[in-house]
Amino acid sequence: MGILDKHKFIETNATVLLVGSLLVVSIGGIVEIVPLFYLENTIEEVDGMRPYSPLELQGRDIYIREGCYVCHSQMIRPLRDEVERYGHYSLAAESMYDHPFQWGSKRTGPDLARVGGRYSDEWHVDHLTDPQSVVPESVMPKYGFLLDHKIEGEYIGELMATHKFVGVPYTDEMIDVALADFEAQADPDSDTDGLLARYPNAQVANFDGLPGISEMDALIAYMQMLGTLVDFSTFIPDASR
Ligand code: HEC
Repeated sequence: MGILDKHKFIETNATVLLVGSLLVVSIGGIVEIVPLFYLENTIEEVDGMRPYSPLELQGRDIYIREGCYVCHSQMIRPLRDEVERYGHYSLAAESMYDHPFQWGSKRTGPDLARVGGRYSDEWHVDHLTDPQSVVPESVMPKYGFLLDHKIEGEYIGELMATHKFVGVPYTDEMIDVALADFEAQADPDSDTDGLLARYPNAQVANFDGLPGISEMDALIAYMQMLGTLVDFSTFIPDASR
């Protein structure tokens, strides 16, 4: 029997073909899946990642509520054009405290994974209030109403407890003082030592420039930290993984 005849036997015999296919697919599956059981962690270790501060976490909730993810992704792919435009490609560690993650696949607007620090707080207020005033051809909707929505942070401890429940390492102390940290981050005159010890590199500012804390403050606090935490000077990509 030539090799083609052997193949004809398999192809004309449904049971043999089925058993053969299952065998091949199972081997392929085992080869892909088994190594994952032996990896302790699929997330690379990096310096600098920390859970969101209370104000940033609140801002992230507003980002999700307003559907910003419908037009913006938060994942820079390891492709040359993306890295040149947006900066270092996104690491798994950078979204390890995201529940749910905000990677997205739709880019009506630019990727926001590293937008933190790219613009001033005033720019964000102007842009969110009236995107066309800074980028005339923009199709982004106006979010000026966020300035009028004052927030007190009365549920911030509960929000953090919920994130703790799904795996974010907030301590009981962080949850106990959540409201104080929430208020301190939006007030440059406050005592921020505790806040900065718990959330290193958190940016303290009156983000919207107005008295009181608004949803605009929280959203900009979140925008300004995006992609700024990882210390890339100490990050060595591990090619063995
Ligand atoms: C209908 C689609 C759409 C929605 C929804 C949307 N955006 Fe945008 N966004 C855009 C577009 C288009 C641009 C590019 C033009 C511009 O800068 O306005 C943009 C730009 C931006 C930029 C500037 C990014 C850069 O690198 O220049 C930021 C920041 C931003 N959006 C934040 C947000 C936030 C926060 C929300 C939710 C409150 C949001 N966007 C909702 C379409 C959208």
